[in-house]
Amino acid sequence: MSLMVREMAESEVGLVIDYFHASPPEHLELIGVDPVRLPKREAWRAYYEQVFQQPLERRETLLLTWLDDERPFGFSSADKIVFGQRAHMHLHVTLPDDRRRGLGVEAVRRSVELYFAQLRLKRLFCEPHAFNPTPNRTLPSAGFRYLNTHVTVPGPLNFRQPVARWVITRPRKLDS
Ligand SMILES: CC(C)(COP(=O)(O)OP(=O)(O)OC[C@H]1O[C@@H](n2cnc3c(N)ncnc32)[C@H](O)[C@@H]1OP(=O)(O)O)[C@@H](O)C(=O)NCCC(=O)NCCS
Repeated sequence: MSLMVREMAESEVGLVIDYFHASPPEHLELIGVDPVRLPKREAWRAYYEQVFQQPLERRETLLLTWLDDERPFGFSSADKIVFGQRAHMHLHVTLPDDRRRGLGVEAVRRSVELYFAQLRLKRLFCEPHAFNPTPNRTLPSAGFRYLNTHVTVPGPLNFRQPVARWVITRPRKLDS
């Protein structure tokens, strides 16, 4: 395994768009996403085109690509960004066969380091659906601390749901 996490190039945003549009309804349900709220592919691309023109200090969302031996296997995004203060992160290994192999925990650790460095964060939050076991196991392994569980609509793609709120205040040191 040769894992790398880096900022996503604009030419790679199809990884995000295809993942959500190709996910079966039961997967979207598990991650708390309402299929009706997914933007159409072209509108979504146009949105990212505009996002990539924003300077980091005013970015609405920052995307990271996760690669194993140079093959993209997942991505993370940060939103609700208050530059120099806080943001929320999301985590996705795109293909089911790549999940549960230890890639996610390591990719989240490295994403956290990148977000802290690029966005000058003090705190980074993550709010997965409370009944989705995998992120709720992954986050503490990557150094996040559990805060509480509450009911909310966490983002524009989501339906109302219970979410577990996790926070990390400084990046965990890499082992290597
Ligand atoms: C969440 C996700 C990024 C984690 O990545 P991953 O590569 O599958 O996770 P890992 O193999 O690194 O395992 C991380 C932890 O989750 C646990 N885990 C993995 N799959 C699990 C499952 N189905 N049920 C319970 N625990 C699970 C592992 O045992 C490990 O726990 P540990 O560190 O305590 O041993 C990935 O599973 C994923 O993309 N899932 C679908 C999308 C999703 O749910 N995203 C979250 C939306 S907010």
